[in-house]
Amino acid sequence: MPDRPDRLEELRARRARIEEGGGPERTARQHASGKLTARERLAELLDPGTFVELDRFVTHRATAFGMDRVEAPADGVVTGYGAVDGRLTYVFSQDFTVLGGSLGEGHAQKICKIMDLALRSGAPVIGLNDSGGARIQEGVAALGGYAEIFLRNTLASGVVPQISAIMGPCAGGAVYSPAITDFTIMVRGTSYMFVTGPQVVKAVTHEDVTLEDLGGAEVHAGKSGVAHFIAESDADCLHLIRRLLGYLPQNNLEAPPRRPCGDDPRRMDAALDSLVPEDPHRPYDMRDVIAHVVDEGEFLEVQQHFAQNLVVGFARLGGRAVGIVAQQPAVLAGVLDINSSVKGARFVRFCDAFNIPLVTFVDVPGFLPGTEQEHGGIIRHGAKLLFAYCEATVPKLAVITRKAYGGAYDVMSSKHIRGDLNLAWPTAEIAVMGPEGAIDIIFRRELEEAPDREAARARLAAEYRAQFANPYVAASRGYVDDIIEPHETRPRLISALEMLAGKRDRNPPKKHGNIPL
Ligand code: HXC
Repeated sequence: MPDRPDRLEELRARRARIEEGGGPERTARQHASGKLTARERLAELLDPGTFVELDRFVTHRATAFGMDRVEAPADGVVTGYGAVDGRLTYVFSQDFTVLGGSLGEGHAQKICKIMDLALRSGAPVIGLNDSGGARIQEGVAALGGYAEIFLRNTLASGVVPQISAIMGPCAGGAVYSPAITDFTIMVRGTSYMFVTGPQVVKAVTHEDVTLEDLGGAEVHAGKSGVAHFIAESDADCLHLIRRLLGYLPQNNLEAPPRRPCGDDPRRMDAALDSLVPEDPHRPYDMRDVIAHVVDEGEFLEVQQHFAQNLVVGFARLGGRAVGIVAQQPAVLAGVLDINSSVKGARFVRFCDAFNIPLVTFVDVPGFLPGTEQEHGGIIRHGAKLLFAYCEATVPKLAVITRKAYGGAYDVMSSKHIRGDLNLAWPTAEIAVMGPEGAIDIIFRRELEEAPDREAARARLAAEYRAQFANPYVAASRGYVDDIIEPHETRPRLISALEMLAGKRDRNPPKKHGNIPL
């Protein structure tokens, strides 16, 4: 009894020391570079007062390179659990003020512990990355630590949602943990990701490149497709994570959360009736269609800057979360190419893994022709999107707004690959190919012999358009379930989601499929 107050004081002092991280100087440096500290980030991410820390007292056991004299509070990573909108969420937040957030054995074990808990209790894992990578002084123990995290990322994939925020450096093999997780968010100006940094690039390829140009947020969001979102600041990034989690279930055995809907499910939007231009060659913005249909026009676009000919993201219909996949006629006429196929495939598989119904808006002239695409493997990559739609067993709804031509018609959630409800607007054109291309092939001889070739072409194209470039042939075979007026789209989709709420479908038992990677 008598020594009790001292022990409490000791505990308090130790806790306080650990919470200081790398100390005031390094914290000031962190702030000066526009970044919050590891603990400030958790306070911003989680509901107030909900964070519970685990393994605060873990530290390294290294002795080489003077490490026996180095103190590393919390071993450079703050881990634990808390709540986002009242829902359990596991978190780790690397502390750059402690040995540059570098990952040693203890640091890795802490991350693995919360990943194991997340997997066992079925809740998401959010990783806030800000690290110089493998802790050089700990050598192979650090490499082993990364591998243990990669393994858990892989085992948790498709079981609990995993989100990675890149809020500082993320270099070398460290990039492969975010790469395996479901979503990667990068903060503009303060984050970068690369397998080898500018100095190594210079030594090997003689290229001069800055950190930002090699692996900054814009590069990964726009060019490589590694990042799904760009955030403008730490606070923006953490807010975005909360918003994203709002669409996701806790795990693969639960339904996504349903929100009360302030937007009338029967709302009919007359603006939709004139959105598709009369001239089939003229573009329009598919995001306008989405905005007029979904609850309160709210759409969280994923990979907004990458492969913009396909739009993917989350929205709600009648309060239910849905994943939207839509061609974007305003970019490359909405054609499917390598990048958009890969983008769409990954999104479709995420939604399917986590029971999020898919709503597909189709306006696709086909796959992009050309040697660049063929030699780049459009066959292999296009097959990914096809495979993803084929294997998906969540409710699949599709609305053909205009073109649905060729193989792309089959791919985009068609009836033949288990589309549950396929609707078409009267402007839909569903055929093997567009009128001009089609008549050049099937009437080649007639056109060669025609006295006025252009007039004959125009006449035949008009005939083809009248006969095939419409939704009625497909509807007569039941390939589309109904042809609707565009303003009816929202109530029809909401009614379909209700109709399919109890949908059960499954694929043949197997270890796993062999998606063409
Ligand atoms: C140990 C590290 C470290 C590391 C940084 N620090 N990275 N300590 N291991 N990997 C320490 C620094 O010594 C310094 O300590 C503090 O963190 C802050 O680092 P600074 O260099 O002062 O900060 P800054 O100028 O902002 O530069 C950040 C940086 C740079 C660009 C990340 O530190 C850097 O290049 N670090 C090495 C990156 C790297 O090559 N990592 C290995 C990647 S390979 P003091 O005490 O001075 O504050 C890898 C393999 C993983 O990770 C394999 C998995 C399969």
